[in-house]
Amino acid sequence: MKRQRARLRRAVAILALLVAGIATGGCNAARILLPNPLRAASVNAFVVEVEFGEPLERASAEDPARYDLHPSASPGSRAVIYSATVVDTLYGRVVQLLIASGPLPDREAWEITTSGVRTDQGRSTGTRTASFVTGLGYASDMRMLFAEHCDRCHGAALAEGHYRTDSLAYLRGVGTDATPNLIAGDPGCRLVRRTLPGKTMFDQGGLSVLESDMIRDWVVEYSARP
Ligand code: HEC
Repeated sequence: MKRQRARLRRAVAILALLVAGIATGGCNAARILLPNPLRAASVNAFVVEVEFGEPLERASAEDPARYDLHPSASPGSRAVIYSATVVDTLYGRVVQLLIASGPLPDREAWEITTSGVRTDQGRSTGTRTASFVTGLGYASDMRMLFAEHCDRCHGAALAEGHYRTDSLAYLRGVGTDATPNLIAGDPGCRLVRRTLPGKTMFDQGGLSVLESDMIRDWVVEYSARP
């Protein structure tokens, strides 16, 4: 009887652990499934790109007055936005903002608020805010991006194309031939070319257009810095 109760207790404990695991996993899944409402990255000192969760109506998305860009520490000092352009020909979700008052300082916390940009269905996206750090670096921005989108096929277990993406040293390495896949500053290197929108690794990795632009600009604008 005592043993039976102990067994029951253990079963309950295991069940509770399982439920907790599913609950956390479920939470994660919900977070991933939810369209990202707003994301931003400063892909060079004069350009900030903003990604919405849904396809946009061009007229409102390309109105610079709908974007407020400022350092997190001083909301009053706004950057002057010269133009807003939808650069995402695949999904219509990414807007490129050209900064007239630039260059933006490097490695500083900034915030962007959008208001009244409409979706291609004519619905307002309301007011949305995203934070980002200016400039792109491997440790701060890219490591997570590759981990999320590439490492499962280009890690220790698999290394597809004899190429790994799970460290900066590996990224700089070679794969199927003697040419390194990442050549700092070179927009024609394989890592950039194969992750452009519509290319195989863009699709395989499930990249968004913003993420593809981040890879390109990290390699080209920031010389693939650490
Ligand atoms: C589902 C698996 C998968 C995912 C995810 C994936 N790849 Fe690949 N990748 C492959 C395969 C298979 C090859 C080899 C065949 C080829 O070249 O198409 C390859 C080849 C490559 C090559 C060429 C390597 C060489 O030296 O020939 C690069 C560069 C590359 N991938 C980058 C990436 C990046 C960056 C990501 C993430 C955005 C990514 N891949 C995501 C499967 C994947």
